[in-house]
Amino acid sequence: MKTNLLVTGAMVVSLAAGLAQAADGPIQSAFVVLGDNGAAQARVVTTDGACPSVQIDGRAIAMTVRAAPGTLPLRTTRSTPELSKASEFAVTVCEAPLPRGKTASVGGRPLPLPVSDPKRIVVIGDTGCRIKTSDSAFQACNDANLYPFAKVAASAAAFKPDLVIHVGDYLYRENPCPAGNAGCAGSVWGYGWDSWNADFFAPGAPLLAAAPWAAARGNHESCNRGGQAWWRIMDARALKAGQDCIDPANDGVGDYTDPYAVPLGNGAQLILLDSSNALNNEIDPASPMGLKYRDMYAKYSALAAKTPYSIMVQHHPILAFAATEKAGAITLNPGNLSLLSIFGIGNPWYVPNSTKLLLAGHVHLFEQLSFSTTHPSQFVAGFSGTQEDIVPLPEKLPDTTAPAPGARPSAFSSWIDGFGFMTMERTGKESWSILVHDVDGKVVNRCTAQGKVSSCEIAQVKVPKPG
Ligand SMILES: [Fe+2]
Repeated sequence: MKTNLLVTGAMVVSLAAGLAQAADGPIQSAFVVLGDNGAAQARVVTTDGACPSVQIDGRAIAMTVRAAPGTLPLRTTRSTPELSKASEFAVTVCEAPLPRGKTASVGGRPLPLPVSDPKRIVVIGDTGCRIKTSDSAFQACNDANLYPFAKVAASAAAFKPDLVIHVGDYLYRENPCPAGNAGCAGSVWGYGWDSWNADFFAPGAPLLAAAPWAAARGNHESCNRGGQAWWRIMDARALKAGQDCIDPANDGVGDYTDPYAVPLGNGAQLILLDSSNALNNEIDPASPMGLKYRDMYAKYSALAAKTPYSIMVQHHPILAFAATEKAGAITLNPGNLSLLSIFGIGNPWYVPNSTKLLLAGHVHLFEQLSFSTTHPSQFVAGFSGTQEDIVPLPEKLPDTTAPAPGARPSAFSSWIDGFGFMTMERTGKESWSILVHDVDGKVVNRCTAQGKVSSCEIAQVKVPKPG
């Protein structure tokens, strides 16, 4: 009898899964990424072996296989061997350049089309559910208030953006949830499709459908973490053998990508940088990593010279703070030391002069800084789902405190221990209305940016936590 009941239960589960599959079809995700010079590319993740066609204004465009299904050989990861496993991708990843058109769809799903002058931008970052054994960090992935990326994605989609910027760190379910932990019980883990789907594609679906994405790569997407899926699914450029994070011997190639620009129209552009492999110590400029980041900076400078106004998007902030606490003493840590040490060679501003706004994540909070020196404003939007960094930042910075040598803050705002997203509405050639939203989309702070200068109404947001 017991066996019969179990069989019946399994059949019910199987039937439900079958119905879900039938309702959704083989396509697991369909979205649009923006690459070099804003070139739009449709991406599809499907359980089918073959790729579907994209319909543009009723015309079918064939998609090609970017990555075939497969289980990649076990490789060294950031975790110990017992906490690592081979990455399984039982899905086909498809791609097709997306020409200009009025309507686009794939498998009956509408695809968002890029506009030449996006005026409404959503900025999110650090969105996965943190399960990391070595840090004893086990975020409650099963609780929509404690892991709220799905809510954030739905609220951000309701803003109806023209463009979504993700400042990096998508995959956090690196290790198994410990037995007896109800908060994350049953979570998938590792760096394969199941983890990426649970951490990013499923909760992020409404926002992936809302607008094309400019996606920056975080340190959680370095080769020894989520880099394999980064290359197979997310990176806007071509997937090349040897640059795919499969063989650790090639990580020196797979961990770096060239900067690229996404035009915003009217003399403005985004420039996306890949800082995924940056550590937080000074780099010898003659070392292999030093040479890589010097080359990146030279290419960034060349792109920045093309327009009078650039917004630089990079996972690690260079002109913001992260607070840490030891034995009750709080330290304000400066911007990323690896990047500052290279970007600052012969340049006290750390970025080309036409870069007037910096967007980053990595620190799990919202933060804004403006400077009395001629440094660009920095915004940090690492507060969109991952367990927050809750060591408090001061409401007012001590006079001599600087996130980088020579940069003197004149305005500082933060929101600690609150989840949400940022929006930017363009109000002029070099000006933006910037809003800070909670998970439900409610505005908790209002900021503006004009050229290199920015300010927010509230220095330190304090709102009750939901739930
Ligand atoms: Fe990060």
